[in-house]
Amino acid sequence: MVRQHVNPLSRFFQLPLELPAPAELFAEPDQPIHLDIGCARGRFLLELAQQQPAVNHLGVEIRRPLVSAAEADREALGLGNLRYLFCNANVSLEAWLAALPPGQLELVSVQFPDPWFKKKHHKRRVLQPALLLAIAAALAPGRRLFIQSDVLAVIEPMVALCEASGCFSRPAADARPWRADNPLPLPTERERYVLAQQLPVYRVLYERNEAPLPELQVLEQALEAADNPLDSAPSPA
Ligand SMILES: C[S@@+](CC[C@H](N)C(=O)[O-])C[C@H]1O[C@@H](n2cnc3c(N)ncnc32)[C@H](O)[C@@H]1O
Repeated sequence: MVRQHVNPLSRFFQLPLELPAPAELFAEPDQPIHLDIGCARGRFLLELAQQQPAVNHLGVEIRRPLVSAAEADREALGLGNLRYLFCNANVSLEAWLAALPPGQLELVSVQFPDPWFKKKHHKRRVLQPALLLAIAAALAPGRRLFIQSDVLAVIEPMVALCEASGCFSRPAADARPWRADNPLPLPTERERYVLAQQLPVYRVLYERNEAPLPELQVLEQALEAADNPLDSAPSPA
C-alpha cells in the first residue's frame, strides 16, 4: 500500500540524495529540461514526454513506490527523454539545480501540491523559500515556473512567495489573479479529478525576469507574513 502523505520533515526524508546529472538520465542530455516537482504516479509526464520528444522531462517524488511504478512504465515504453527520481525536493533538488548547465532548465511545474492544512504543518509544504530560490537561480530570464492548485489556501502563499522574491513576472496577457487556462497541453491526474468534480483550479504562470535573487531570510519573512496576514495588517487607528 502506498501511503497518502509522508512527512517530508521526518529524519529519513532529510537525508540528501545525490541526484544524477542530465548526462546519466537522458538519451539526449543536452535537450531542454522540464522539471515536475511532486509528480506522484507520473502518468502526466508519461504522456507529455511522448508528445514532446525534444524536451527532457524529470519528475521528482517523495513516495518511492510511486517512482518505481512510474519508472517501470517509462522503461516499458523505452522513453529516453523521461525519468522519475525519488527524493525530497526540499533536500536534494538544490544541488542538482545548481549543477545544471546555464539555460538548460526550460520549465518547472508544481501542480496540486499536498495542502498540509494545519498551520503547524505549513513547513511541510513543498514550495519553501530555499527551493524557490534554487529554482529562480537555475531558470534563465524568460523561462517558466507554473503553479496550480485547487486549494486557495495553498496557492496564495505560493503566489506571495514568488512575488516577494521579485524574480518572477507574469506574462502581460495573462488574466489575474488566476490564469484562465492551463498553459501545459495535458492535465495531471489530480487536475483531471478536480475538473471532473467541477471544482475551481487556480493557476499562475511565471516567467523568470532579470532581477537578482533576494536573501533567503527576506523570503522567509515574506512567507511568514503571507501565513499570518493578521499579524502584518496595520492595526486599526
Ligand atoms: C497531491 S499530489 C499531486 C500529484 C501531481 N502533481 C498531480 O497533480 O496529479 C502531490 C505530490 O507531491 C509529493 N510530494 C510532497 N512533498 C514532496 C517533496 N518534499 N518532495 C517531492 N515530492 C513531494 C507527494 O508525495 C504527492 O505525490
